[in-house]
Amino acid sequence: MELSQILVYSFLLFVSMTLLWFFKRLKKSQLSKDQFIFKTLAPLIYNYHHVNEVTTTLFETVGETVPIGGKIFTCNPDNIEHILRSNFSNDSKGADFVELVDIFGDGLFNIDSHLPQWQAEKRMLNYELSFKDFKSFAANVSLKEVETALVPVLQHLSKEKCVVDLQDLFLRFAYDNSFHMIFGINPNLLSPSFPENVFAEAIDVVMETIKCRLIVPVTIWKLFRSLKLRWEGRYCKAVKLIDKTIHDVLTVKKKEMAKGVATTNDLMSPFIRSQGENDKFLRDMTFNAIFAASDTTSSGLTWFFWLVSQSPTAKANILDEIDHVISFDQSKTSKIKVFNQEDVKNMIYLHAAFCESMRLFPPVYMNQRYAAKDDVLPDGSTVKAHTKVRTFLYVSGRIKRIWGEDSNEFKPERWINEDGKIRPELMSKWFIFNVGPRSCMGRDMAFSNMKMVAATILYNFNVEVVECDPTYTKQSMVLFMENGLKVKTSEKIG
Ligand code: HEM
Ligand SMILES: *[C@@H]1O[C@H](CO)[C@@H](O)[C@H](O)[C@H]1NC(C)=O
Ligand SMILES: *[C@@H]1O[C@H](CO)[C@@H](O)[C@H](O)[C@H]1NC(C)=O
Ligand SMILES: *[C@@H]1O[C@H](CO)[C@@H](O)[C@H](O)[C@H]1NC(C)=O
Repeated sequence: MELSQILVYSFLLFVSMTLLWFFKRLKKSQLSKDQFIFKTLAPLIYNYHHVNEVTTTLFETVGETVPIGGKIFTCNPDNIEHILRSNFSNDSKGADFVELVDIFGDGLFNIDSHLPQWQAEKRMLNYELSFKDFKSFAANVSLKEVETALVPVLQHLSKEKCVVDLQDLFLRFAYDNSFHMIFGINPNLLSPSFPENVFAEAIDVVMETIKCRLIVPVTIWKLFRSLKLRWEGRYCKAVKLIDKTIHDVLTVKKKEMAKGVATTNDLMSPFIRSQGENDKFLRDMTFNAIFAASDTTSSGLTWFFWLVSQSPTAKANILDEIDHVISFDQSKTSKIKVFNQEDVKNMIYLHAAFCESMRLFPPVYMNQRYAAKDDVLPDGSTVKAHTKVRTFLYVSGRIKRIWGEDSNEFKPERWINEDGKIRPELMSKWFIFNVGPRSCMGRDMAFSNMKMVAATILYNFNVEVVECDPTYTKQSMVLFMENGLKVKTSEKIG
């Protein structure tokens, strides 16, 4: 047989195996027609529920930088750093990417960093986020949410011996927390009746649609959008719901402010005061802030708990550290111990465990930038002007050349040096929060909140995983488990 024949046969074999596999899955899970279309067509481009496995295999077989369909895919950390720091001349996401994620409007996520508007928004937000009263308010809000919502719900679930989806619980926590921090208004999604989390569900639909748009040809999704077909129809409804929710909350907030009864230390108050008439600005700012803070944090927490459940050693080390750090007189007075921001500051091992879990499962696992000019990446790959470069952090975090032969293992120790500090040299290969002009503005807050939640749950509760498939991920821009992380909890005694 000739080589070309072999190639053709292997390709046909691959296609039929893939189809077979998807038909099997289809039967098993009663997929909708939309999902069916995606499950049979998309895998040939990239298999969306297993995008991380597919891209890992791709990069392992072809190399760390691969041109695909006019785009460049890379997982090479030097390339990613080059792109994210200002070297990618204009740090643009590309006009069509911005259209693809139109839900973000003119918010920070979407505008190019060379535009005065971005610089102004970034300055305002930076000022707000670093304001002493805001920081104190935000820390109080998170502590209160853990103390008066998360812990009581877990106690209730433990008593009733219910199975609960931790991913869903963390989403509720994160949305309550960020709405409260951003508006001073708490939707109470963690109240024991578990009210429907419609906002998060709408964001789910939006993220699914964005992922579809990334996969199918541009003309197709635009056609679907103009006809409001399928996922584009659902998207349209979801966007309306999101806009209405934000509009309603802003209206209540403005009324409260006019009456002088509103909390004033929340994030949006100063913006409402200065931009009260500019509804589009307020809507975009709010949506970007809520999304930035909620989905990412809950994703980070979910994967952390999955990994810790698989590693008794790491769990023992975390508990050991907590025992050393807390003041014991406090712990004896009440049965439940809730850790605040100050308590978790010195928990280095716990910090390392989050670095490690987000290395293995980055909440924002894929990103895109657009080359304004011709460029050469550090590994020698050339990028023509107007090319999109997609970066895959999930794969970067597992490259053996960088992280060693044990790169797929969860080992928080690798982050700690002889002085008991986080190793700075590893940080320069880890872009979970982005680097350069567009790096995450909520990084410290995210760490602090996640550590508060993790320390409080691990210290007071046993968490036993009942059901979880970590390889089956959601169709989303944020890394979630499709079927959640089902656990049983029980309160520790004594
Ligand atoms: C585990 C949690 C988090 C992760 C992994 C994360 C990750 C990221 C990443 C990758 C970006 C860059 C997105 C881009 O390509 O433009 C980003 C931007 C941003 N993040 Fe976070 N984030 C987290 C939590 C938070 C929190 C809690 C806040 C809120 C206070 C926040 C606020 C922001 C903002 C405002 C930006 C926009 C920066 C800009 O475009 O200039 N993030 N984050
Ligand atoms: C950009 O890359 C060039 C070489 O590729 C280097 O000389 C220059 O210092 C870099 N600039 C920045 C801002 O990193
Ligand atoms: C946060 O809580 C502390 C202690 O309860 C209190 O002194 C402080 O005023 C609170 N900060 C804000 C901004 O509400
Ligand atoms: C790049 O930035 C400059 C201003 O610094 C701007 O004039 C130009 O339009 C930008 N180019 C692209 C392709 O975004």
